[in-house]
Amino acid sequence: MPENSDREELAILATSLRRHLERRQRVGIRTLAKGTPLEVKPALAGKDNLLGGTVDDLFAENSAALQTQSLEELRAAIGDCRRCKLCSGRTNLVFGVGNPHAALMFVGEGPGRDEDLQGEPFVGRAGQLLTDIITKGMGLKREDVYIANVVKCRPPENRNPEPDEVAACEPFLKKQIDLIRPKIIVGLGKFAVQTLLQSKAPITKLRGNWRSYHGIKLMPTFHPAYLLRNPADKKLVWEDIKKVIKEMRGENG
Ligand code: URA
Repeated sequence: MPENSDREELAILATSLRRHLERRQRVGIRTLAKGTPLEVKPALAGKDNLLGGTVDDLFAENSAALQTQSLEELRAAIGDCRRCKLCSGRTNLVFGVGNPHAALMFVGEGPGRDEDLQGEPFVGRAGQLLTDIITKGMGLKREDVYIANVVKCRPPENRNPEPDEVAACEPFLKKQIDLIRPKIIVGLGKFAVQTLLQSKAPITKLRGNWRSYHGIKLMPTFHPAYLLRNPADKKLVWEDIKKVIKEMRGENG
């Protein structure tokens, strides 16, 4: 069985391969041979830089993103992303925001309407609640932490991201985490936590208990949008956040 990271890389390569084949098919290319330059109808040559080259080019696009050394380079390598179908409905790709050396990182599900319009995660009503947790609850500034989502483009009608969308985008979250190397990740809500932990356990069972994400301490908690609908559960999130504060101060043993 391949390791998780191998599986992610395979998933992203498969998505890249499918997109590439679809583009080639659209211009009448139906065969592919490793290392062989592909002939392109002269009228179309140069119109799309993915139409030239060889099969080896298929792998270059994503491996370039995964080999970047900074968040700026990663953002640039993701580019005007067309790796999954969410690209067709987005206004802005919402990459992430905050301190590139943050000790604390928050991970949500995916951009909503406000985030899509502004290009920044957690800026709507749920975002205001998250900002309150960070500033009023933890005594930090938004700029002290890093905030990102599992998928970078808004799912239509705020539906859950679909497996192919997560497969295409999650490697970039993983790379963000790898570049930031936070001490602690707070997973916001069922979708983000289950994705990060590759778990199907309910968030009610996962929240409040320390877990590990590739060696980084992960605290699962409820999503701020859930808290807007269920304000009585804010006290549970506060308990989780108090554990995070203690851990950041080195007070957990
Ligand atoms: N919900 C999320 O999960 N992420 C955002 O950025 C906004 C709302």
